[in-house]
Amino acid sequence: MAGRVPRSFIDDLLNRVDIVEIIDNRVPLKKKGTEYWACCPFHNEKSASFSVSQNKQFFHCFGCQQSGNAIGFLMDYDHMEFVEAIETLAQSIGLDVPYEQGQAPRQATPAMESLFDSLEKCSDYYQSQLKQNNTVIEYLKQRGISGQTARDYAIGYAPEGWSNLQGDQKLLLEGGMLIEKDNGQHYDRFRHRLMFPIRDRRGRTIAFGGRVIVAEDNPKYLNSPETSIFHKGDEIYGLYELKKAVTNIEQIFVTEGYMDVVALAEHGVKTAVATLGTAINNAQIEKLFRSCKTLVFCFDGDTAGRKAAWRSLEQCLASLKEGRLARFLFLPDGHDPDSFIGDFGNQAFQQQCTEAATLTEFLFNTLKAECNIQSLEGKSQFLDRLRPYFTQIPLQSLKDQILGEVERQLSVQLDARLLNILGEETVKQNLKTVIPESRWTATKLAINLLLHKPQLAKSTGSQNHLTEANIPGTDLLMQLLDTIHEEPEISTQNLLDRFSDSEQKSHLYQLAAVQPAMENEESIEPMFRDCLQQLQTQYIKIRRLQLIEKSQSGDVLSESEKLEYKQLFTKR
Ligand code: UTP
Ligand code: MN
Repeated sequence: MAGRVPRSFIDDLLNRVDIVEIIDNRVPLKKKGTEYWACCPFHNEKSASFSVSQNKQFFHCFGCQQSGNAIGFLMDYDHMEFVEAIETLAQSIGLDVPYEQGQAPRQATPAMESLFDSLEKCSDYYQSQLKQNNTVIEYLKQRGISGQTARDYAIGYAPEGWSNLQGDQKLLLEGGMLIEKDNGQHYDRFRHRLMFPIRDRRGRTIAFGGRVIVAEDNPKYLNSPETSIFHKGDEIYGLYELKKAVTNIEQIFVTEGYMDVVALAEHGVKTAVATLGTAINNAQIEKLFRSCKTLVFCFDGDTAGRKAAWRSLEQCLASLKEGRLARFLFLPDGHDPDSFIGDFGNQAFQQQCTEAATLTEFLFNTLKAECNIQSLEGKSQFLDRLRPYFTQIPLQSLKDQILGEVERQLSVQLDARLLNILGEETVKQNLKTVIPESRWTATKLAINLLLHKPQLAKSTGSQNHLTEANIPGTDLLMQLLDTIHEEPEISTQNLLDRFSDSEQKSHLYQLAAVQPAMENEESIEPMFRDCLQQLQTQYIKIRRLQLIEKSQSGDVLSESEKLEYKQLFTKR
């Protein structure tokens, strides 16, 4: 397993690199006031709303709400993976990344190196065999694959016969290329098959998929087994080739087969990938979303295709963060991307793509087909079914959009009761706190000040009692306070980084991006105390009302509630 980078190193790194320098090297920045600005590299715009803060070491776009620290920027802008971004930053200031378990994730061990080497030799061998075999060349031609595309994807041919593979038998066995018989002898796994090497993101061959050439042979596709260097669920066919061929990836087409990827590339669609005969999982989707913001899932129009599409939708939801889009393309019945583009060409395929369903459309159409939304029962059944999907979505703006669709398509007003069915009692509250509002509440200001100067938290308690009053945003404020109380000397950038996986991230960055309105550094402390005082006053008012309401509605107050009630009136 990959070694982890220790938290302390990441903290140290974020405190030592300068995000302004890192971004400025890629997107020239201009200083205005205390912040640096540019036109946002993540969405199209004419005036600069992309800001970089040197003090807080993060970027935030006021236009598209994309935000993050130096690590996040490299991941989003240079399409790096997490550890790769850390490596890059560390290198820029001459540090070596320490890995827990003493093992760098992509620094292969000598044992792995020899496996890669052995599989590379197999790949070379298969490619050379293809060149010598007219039947196979003919087969490729008949499927419309040119020599160039075959070379791009390093397609080869495993000849007939049981012991063609030469080299270290132990390595070939470990790499899944040989099968061991009971008597301890070995034979070649792949025989008389068209070979598709599966390459990792660095282009190293880690496995193969082999297709029969004679239609009657079984199984149609045979894949390498799981090995120490090949885990099906982690890999994506065609991703390496795609990144090599295309620098500015607009969208990625996610298909189901090797031949789909290759045929699309043949017709000029070089941004297709495929899973390895398994349903796509969230880790794979995350990987793809790191390379580009729009994924188009392509399926056959039949029932099996719809089922597979639905599984992809389920795996997608948790990854739908800012700017990411998933679309679902259903080809006419009986077609896969390979046969479709072969019969109708690139333009027809592109046309199909523009008509692909958005995630919201696919979600609604599928659920609507399951309940009769004309009736009242149907409407609540619809909401019941929507709930488990809806709650997984991390992005509030997408949730809001879906809520809008619910109101429109079901002709209902989303009152508290209906929102409750969606598990979103607090949704209206969230709407208020997430949608930018010019009015500053005490919570927002307190968060803003804390991000400016985390050490403000030192003189305050946890404020955890505020939860009971449900004041919007207080949960985030409390999380911040708790984090700082655990690490009193934490820097702003490290504090923000603690929330990089949180669903509150974008809300937090939004608040961090605004300079606190203060006269001078000295006024910040009293302002912060004032915010907490205001929250406390609100809390007392709300709590009193809650307890009065409870006792008036006929509920008996517990002993502790009675005590609390008394204290609420004596405290000021
Ligand atoms: P398909 O049967 O749809 O193949 O399997 P395809 O891509 O259309 O291939 P052609 O056009 O017949 O050549 C889709 C994927 O499912 C996996 C393979 O990864 C294949 O690319 N599969 C399929 C298997 O692993 N084993 C099988 O026997 C069949
Ligand atoms: Mn096919």
